[in-house]
Amino acid sequence: MTSNPRVFASHGMESLSVLAGRDLLSPLRERWDCRVWEHARRPVPEEFKALAHPAEGLLCLLTDRVDQDLIQACPRLRAISSFSVGVDHIDLVAATDRGILVGNTPGVLTETTADLAFALLLAAARRVGEASDFLRRGEWAGGHWEIDAFVGKDLHGATLGIIGLGPIGQAVARRAQGFGLRVLGWSRSGREVPGVRGLALPELLAESDFVSVHVALAAETRGLLDARALAQMKPGAVLVNTARGGIVDEVALANALRSGHLGAVGLDVFAQEPAAGDHPLLEFPNAVLTPHIGSASIGTRIRMAELAVDNLVAGLDGHRMPQCANPEVVVKRN
Ligand code: GLV
Repeated sequence: MTSNPRVFASHGMESLSVLAGRDLLSPLRERWDCRVWEHARRPVPEEFKALAHPAEGLLCLLTDRVDQDLIQACPRLRAISSFSVGVDHIDLVAATDRGILVGNTPGVLTETTADLAFALLLAAARRVGEASDFLRRGEWAGGHWEIDAFVGKDLHGATLGIIGLGPIGQAVARRAQGFGLRVLGWSRSGREVPGVRGLALPELLAESDFVSVHVALAAETRGLLDARALAQMKPGAVLVNTARGGIVDEVALANALRSGHLGAVGLDVFAQEPAAGDHPLLEFPNAVLTPHIGSASIGTRIRMAELAVDNLVAGLDGHRMPQCANPEVVVKRN
């Protein structure tokens, strides 16, 4: 470590590097004074700010809050690269105003995240979590094979409504077509996708047996699925969210499960992460809950690390980032 670091990486990516068989941060370490957060716990905001302060480049995670205050505290910052497709944790306006490039990792995680959305859809529809817990608790032993135990819903022949028709929403649509679902879609831009019938959001909610959320979290989508929207869903419908927790009102969701209006949910994302140990949704056996693992396959996480590092190297070199969330920033060559 030096007293004048030019890059701060908020995660050392050690375990991923072991899986990859090489140090994934070496392209940064070889070229820049690279300070890396080395503790198992995550840095608190003040630690993060102190380490980021002298940096020209920042490699961060989706759990790191890169807000206006942090950006202002880093006078030399020129490039931020996030190990995530979502950039809702970064103040893009503040970064763009300062001419700071922001990189992210779309594309490489599309299919893996769509797989998890489908896993949650199947698990919630067929009550996989409840049935597995029943067996693990030893309740099957000494009992019977019951004719009506854990009966769930069929996917084939049902209707799936996809909210957000970007790459991940489209990848979910392809999977749904293979499973014999009729697919409806809604996107803010009115995008048309072959094989997906576009509908206004209230109609999509009213017609769908399953709904899967794939919009980015932004001012326009925060709380998009509030109590009113959830009430528009079919009685007994299943909601899956692998996008961002802030898109769904969690109190309204808990009420919809408690009243029996919704049949089940599959959630990988929460308004506050990590979700609290006494999170209100934990009480529902028909809620399949995972800890934000949408992109968590070994290959995809390695590709995300490579892309995040490539973005930062390009930004620091004054080249276009391979994936840039604010391409309107003019690239300044060194
Ligand atoms: C995951 O949620 C991501 O934004 O990469």
